[in-house]
Amino acid sequence: MILVTGGTGFIGSHTCVQLIKAGYDVLVIDDLSNSHEDVVNRIKLITGKKIEFIKGNVCDYNLLTDVFRKYKIDSVIHFAGYKAVGESVNKPLIYYKNNIDSTLNLLTVMRNFNVTSFIFSSSATVYAPTGKVPFSELSELGKCSNPYGWTKYMNEEIIQSYCNSNSDFSAVLLRYFNPVGAHESGYLGEDPQGIPNNLMPLICRVSLNIINELTVFGNDYDTEDGTCIRDYIHVMDLANAHILALKYVNGHKGCKAFNIGTGKGTSVLEMIKTFEDVNKLKINYKIGKRRAGDVAKLYADCTKAKKELSFTPVYTLSDMCLHSYNYMKLNYMKGV
Ligand code: UFG
Repeated sequence: MILVTGGTGFIGSHTCVQLIKAGYDVLVIDDLSNSHEDVVNRIKLITGKKIEFIKGNVCDYNLLTDVFRKYKIDSVIHFAGYKAVGESVNKPLIYYKNNIDSTLNLLTVMRNFNVTSFIFSSSATVYAPTGKVPFSELSELGKCSNPYGWTKYMNEEIIQSYCNSNSDFSAVLLRYFNPVGAHESGYLGEDPQGIPNNLMPLICRVSLNIINELTVFGNDYDTEDGTCIRDYIHVMDLANAHILALKYVNGHKGCKAFNIGTGKGTSVLEMIKTFEDVNKLKINYKIGKRRAGDVAKLYADCTKAKKELSFTPVYTLSDMCLHSYNYMKLNYMKGV
């Protein structure tokens, strides 16, 4: 059985679907702090299979111990964590405590029950923002601009140190670039609570008039159209990367990091234009000031994931825009 922490969240839920399709039994622990229990039913609607679900926080050591005692866990995929960059600046202690305690607990309980394969949901945010694009796994790490980023960085260090101390243990760190898109069915997608900070959920909300206008954060960057460039990747490609990582982690020892992106950079204006074209609508936007902490260009060198995991993303930017909008339309049209 695969334990998926944070399995009702955006990336976790899509990964559960692909795990089930690949024949794995799935157990989810999630405290629902940024997701809904209905996701469990939606996963069943898509796959026809019910996952085991436990409502709880991974920082609860006794809960984890009970779970490992009750179920035969073969591998752990660890998504659970707080992820709002801005909020992490205002609530650093909560972010450090939650995001780091959870990993320490998991590793400790895994050690107690002799479970040795682990996949960690990391982020391109671990790369020092001063580096040159494309970012490879050998690019400089650290110099994070916010506590959220540091929690990813520190978790990577913790996992690496634990791997060094235990030669039976095997871990994969997946460094996601910018996850967007949704399941084609419209049952699963990105559903942040409160006002979103990320580009795609904001574009979706503007497209449905939930928010009046999008502000493009700066058009005076050193890029072709002046707006920032990111490496957007469809969440289903990302989910598939976890299935490949699971196969990899069970055949190798030690700790390895992989970039998971497309290797292709897209500007904010290109994203808006593609969204407008594929969904045949207009996005109301204005050009605003730069946002603190943004870098001009961030995209991945994906050579390593391609070579060692056989990872090749298949979804296009148009798919990302189409599926994100489809999810929003089906789930928010009633003005919820
Ligand atoms: N943007 C706007 N207007 C908005 C929101 C975003 O112009 O209202 C722009 C940003 O300036 C940036 C791009 O859209 O150029 C993407 O911004 P996001 O906030 O969607 O994503 P980021 O690249 O800032 O951050 C994402 C994840 C982080 C992760 C980071 C790693 O949200 O969790 O990638 O690179 F740490």
